[in-house]
This record gives sequence, structure tokens and C-alpha cells, in this order.
Amino acid sequence: MNIILLGAPGAGKGTQARNLVEKRGMVQLSTGDMLRAARTSGTEMGKRVAEVMDRGELVTDEIVIGLIGEALDSASASGGVIFDGFPRTLAQADALGGLLGEKGLALDGVIELRVDDEALVDRITGRFTCGNCGEVYHDRTKPTKVAGQCDVCGSTDLQRRADDNEDSLRQRLMEYYKKTSPLIGYYHAKGDLHVVDGLAPVAEVEAAIAAALKA
Ligand code: AP5
Repeated sequence: MNIILLGAPGAGKGTQARNLVEKRGMVQLSTGDMLRAARTSGTEMGKRVAEVMDRGELVTDEIVIGLIGEALDSASASGGVIFDGFPRTLAQADALGGLLGEKGLALDGVIELRVDDEALVDRITGRFTCGNCGEVYHDRTKPTKVAGQCDVCGSTDLQRRADDNEDSLRQRLMEYYKKTSPLIGYYHAKGDLHVVDGLAPVAEVEAAIAAALKA
């Protein structure tokens, strides 16, 4: 099963993708994670990407389509792919359709995690993640059990993202409404869209996704 998780910054795409990986053995392809890996590589491309991400703008279609194309080569043999944060423009959506078609793969559903902007500020400014295993936390709603230590792997490398501040979030939301939200209509017209209430507790969102996918 190959699915897209669509939603504004902080809607819960990464959190739900990790659940699907853990419980269904799917592979998560997050362009945000790929770009963060590129920015730490120190290459010229990585430096350019870092500036764009910190401003809260979208990286070029060419770069992210290239990253997904490469990742899909190794992921397509697995038990299904979750596209997390990709596609984010109509050009990316068309490119994904082409890439899947070339590999004889189908898109089984698009989940839109719907939230309101007010909740997103709280989610984004309170978020931190484990630098070792990627577990996602929140200062108020999901703190670690032992302060400063990841519940899953015990690492003390807990990190906050450079773009998780109010200024950058405002720009990320603007980009979302201008460039990504047209995908809601695009996938609705294709009959692939399922809308899920992303404001519900994590377990309820997970159940709603399973129900939408009938699996
Ligand atoms: P990316 O890394 O994709 O970030 P994003 O879309 O802004 O989404 P986030 O990771 O911020 O949020 P999320 O929806 O995964 O929420 P999470 O589960 O962590 O992209 C970053 C940047 O990279 C972009 O701005 C752009 O520059 C670039 N980029 C990436 N892809 C690109 C592309 N395709 N094209 C061009 N540029 C691209 O949850 C957030 C918090 O809320 C956590 O603390 C979590 O614990 C909490 N939470 C989650 N669910 C719930 C719930 N149900 N109830 C309560 N709390 C919850």
C-alpha cells in the first residue's frame, strides 16, 4: 500500500508515519528528513537548502523530485511507502504519478490531516525530536519520561529544528496555503482523498487513518 500524508506544518504527518512504519512495516519517505540530511552534509547544495528551509520556503521541485526518485528505487521492494511531506506542489504531484507509473506502482490513498492554524503554533514551538532514533516529542503533550532522555533509545541527543519558530512557521503556512493546498482539490478530483481530523488525539488519528484506508 502506497499513501501520501498531506497536511500543514505540525499537522502530525511525521508522528503518523512513524506509527505506520512500526505497525505495518511500511517505509517512510520524508523529503523534510532527506533535506535535513543534505543540509548537514556541508555540500554547496546542502548550504543552499539550509537557507531556504530556515526561511520557511519550499526547496525547488527539481531537488525534491530527484531525492524521491532515488529513494523510491530502494523503497519500492518494501511493504509499501508513506510519502511524508511530498508532494507539496502540483508539479511534484505530477512527477510522483509519473515515477509510480514507471515502476508499475499504484497510489492507494491520500490522507489529509486537517488542523487549524492556532493548534499548529503550539505544536511546532513545543516540538523536539531524538537525534538518534527520530522519535517526536512535545514539551506539554508528549514529554520524555526521564527529562533529557529519549524514551525509545535512551539517547540524550534531543534536538529542536531551526525552522520551528513562529516567524518561520508563518512563512511555512503561507507556502502551504499557496502551493500545497491545491493538492487537496487535485487528489479529491482523482477520488484518492480522505480527510482525517488531525486535532484528535494521536491514537484516534491513527484509527481514523486505518478506517479510511480500510486496512
Ligand atoms: P518537513 O520536515 O516536511 O516539515 P513540515 O511539513 O513543516 O511538517 P513538520 O515536520 O513540521 O510537521 P508534521 O506534520 O510532521 O508534525 P509532527 O508529527 O512532527 O519540511 C521542512 C522544510 O523542508 C519545508 O519547510 C521546506 O523548506 C522543505 N521541504 C520538505 N519537503 C519539501 C517538498 N516536498 N518540496 C519543497 N520543499 C520541501 O507533529 C508536530 C508536533 O505535534 C509534535 O510535537 C507531535 O508530538 C505533536 N502532535 C502530532 N500529532 C498530534 C496530535 N494528534 N495531538 C497532539 N499533538 C500532536
